[in-house]
Amino acid sequence: MKTLFSKPIIEKEKSRIREEVLALKNNHGITPGLSVILIGNDPASQIYTSSKGRAAEELGMKHETLTFDKSVSVEEVHQTVKKLNEDPSVHGILIQRPVPPQFKESDLIEWITPEKDVDGFHPMNIGKLHLGLPCLQPCTPTGIIRLVKHYGFPLSGKHVVIIGRSSIVGKPASALFLRENSTVTTVHSKSQRIKEICKSADILVVAAGKPHLVNSEWIKPGAIVIDVGIHRQNNKVIGDVDFEDIKEKASAITPVPKGIGPMTIMELLNNTLISAKLSQKVLEEK
Ligand SMILES: NC(=O)c1ccc[n+]([C@@H]2O[C@H](COP(=O)([O-])OP(=O)(O)OC[C@H]3O[C@@H](n4cnc5c(N)ncnc54)[C@H](OP(=O)(O)O)[C@@H]3O)[C@@H](O)[C@H]2O)c1
Repeated sequence: MKTLFSKPIIEKEKSRIREEVLALKNNHGITPGLSVILIGNDPASQIYTSSKGRAAEELGMKHETLTFDKSVSVEEVHQTVKKLNEDPSVHGILIQRPVPPQFKESDLIEWITPEKDVDGFHPMNIGKLHLGLPCLQPCTPTGIIRLVKHYGFPLSGKHVVIIGRSSIVGKPASALFLRENSTVTTVHSKSQRIKEICKSADILVVAAGKPHLVNSEWIKPGAIVIDVGIHRQNNKVIGDVDFEDIKEKASAITPVPKGIGPMTIMELLNNTLISAKLSQKVLEEK
């Protein structure tokens, strides 16, 4: 069984991004800038936003985190996003989830202009993703595809089963695997015969948000298993897959931690770079 660590990919991609950031600065005077909006004091969100900021600065990008009290008005945050949308020194904007209950997800996804939507959540980007057009793609599923390709696993014609249909992982992952000519099945909490379907997967992507949901009874011998879940339990970080139980049966598994999680942050920075490069094209065309 091979453990699919993300470190080699992260190192390779980070050095590429760092070089491209430097070239943008030297040749065009543009420093990619990422603005993160953090509302409230959820400890996990604070950790996530500070790691995003550190990673951006490490690659030579500009970064700011704008923090708001959890009681902030919807209008105040919306006005802030509008200003960031207009600010040419900002190339990527994201609103850290979860947000307090006064905010509606259906509104939030339309606030950030599609060109700066580095999370890839805007309906315009999601629509383009499903049409197979270039766009800012959601980070986690893009990281999954990059990792699987890095390790040289063929995708064309393979049966990929995805557990989960969220807008940030399951649904876009399904579109991206389809683009790779995989045969894709998505299962969710209302699906029947889930274990049986999962057992037919060449590649099983687990994004259910349920600690250790998947064990050796869910996979066929030799399957490749991608564990997207992240859970903190008794000071340990674990995934949706029981790694120890499946390690004799699967041919390859992403570990938790050190698997898909770091890929997500790296793809966010890659999206910020793409967005900065596109802004340069726009400037040149004017
Ligand atoms: N590694 C990363 O960077 C990263 C990024 C994002 C998320 N995550 C982690 O990935 C996990 C999933 O995140 P998410 O945002 O996609 O979660 P989510 O929005 O809660 O969606 C979970 C999905 O799994 C389905 N599901 C739940 N229990 C199930 C079960 N027993 N059998 C089959 N399907 C089941 C749900 O079905 P219904 O639609 O029917 O409810 C839903 O579609 C979480 O642990 C999250 O922390 C990690």
